[in-house]
Amino acid sequence: MEEGTLPRKLDHIRVTLERPVESRHPTLLSEVRIVHQPLPELDLGEVDVSVELFGKRLRAPLMITGMTGGHPAVRGINASLARVAERLGIAIGVGSQRAAIERPEVADTFRVVREEAPTTVVVANLGAPQLALGYGLREAERAVEMVEADALAVHLNPAQEAFQVEGDTNYRGVLRAIKEIVDGLDVPVIVKETGTGLSREAVAQLRALGVECFDVSGLGGTNWVKVEVLRAQERGVRPPVEPDGFTDYWGNPTAVAVAEARVAAPDACVIASGGVRTGLDAARAIVLGADLAGVALPALRALLRGGEEALERLLRGMIDQVRVAAYLAGARSTVDLMLRPAVLGPRLAAELAWRGISWGDLVRAKIARAAALGRRV
Ligand SMILES: Cc1cc2nc3c(=O)[nH]c(=O)nc-3n(C[C@H](O)[C@H](O)[C@H](O)COP(=O)(O)O)c2cc1C
Repeated sequence: MEEGTLPRKLDHIRVTLERPVESRHPTLLSEVRIVHQPLPELDLGEVDVSVELFGKRLRAPLMITGMTGGHPAVRGINASLARVAERLGIAIGVGSQRAAIERPEVADTFRVVREEAPTTVVVANLGAPQLALGYGLREAERAVEMVEADALAVHLNPAQEAFQVEGDTNYRGVLRAIKEIVDGLDVPVIVKETGTGLSREAVAQLRALGVECFDVSGLGGTNWVKVEVLRAQERGVRPPVEPDGFTDYWGNPTAVAVAEARVAAPDACVIASGGVRTGLDAARAIVLGADLAGVALPALRALLRGGEEALERLLRGMIDQVRVAAYLAGARSTVDLMLRPAVLGPRLAAELAWRGISWGDLVRAKIARAAALGRRV
């Protein structure tokens, strides 16, 4: 099969739908026990989990993170994801827009997202490897204009590229390009990982450049090393490096990555994604310091197996769970929930201790975030 951008994107969708592509390593979100409050002094009906993101109000702290676009066959997928995001008042990202920058005739497969989601937050997407190859402010502006985006996500995927046959492993110059884009672009920049997790070192570097938002996309969900290794096997070729333990175990687990991002950028926006599968996962990530949670693969699978109705059911269920978790934690809002007490399990606590993060550090960072959001604490 031809190895251009377009067939590869279709292949990714097929492999992620049909094959076991999620990491065996857990997100460690299940090690967050939010303290139950038997006396919440609230009516469940008054719990309001709406959040502000990029100057717009989302009805719930949830986002469908970027997946697709760039081929006529996926236009319908993007249209459906967008319609459901708009109905629920949650944010939505598009997949890498490289294909449409190289071939403007497929731009409508991305543009359809803004057409179907006229009012909610829409996030454009470009990959760091393209920035290393010379993409800069001009391409970033084109990506944003294409979908009238509220923000641009730049994705980092060095693990995927390292195991992809003919992957783009050059990450030199990415920081400089991100700085140029942050300085020149009219909308905020999100830097996101793609399933192996941001680190506190990376977040600190990026925050110093003015990046306003971080989508951690940690280990425990869709695993791109696995996707690339499975694709190579199917084509009867060997990946450039023998994968061994990398396929399931390389990366920063989502729970750790959320705490690291919050501590490294106390007043910035943090999105928790990578293996978020329930509203309870989302609530746990919020207690660790996330503003909102993101899902990718479960949304795609629900849509392609059960249509928009199944996707809407999945996401509505998650939103209801976040509301109930907030209620049972005695919180009347998402920011309240962020500041509620929790007990961490031994593995997560040890990981954070090794990374030099105490619960006190995290609480201070979360209070700084709440203050930045205008909540009195
Ligand atoms: C089919 C598919 C395609 C994806 N394509 C992109 C992409 O083009 N750009 C990007 O930033 N992330 C991409 N991702 C990564 C997701 O946005 C997300 O970070 C990752 O899958 C982890 O979330 P999950 O465990 O909920 O799937 C893709 C994910 C899937 C499942």
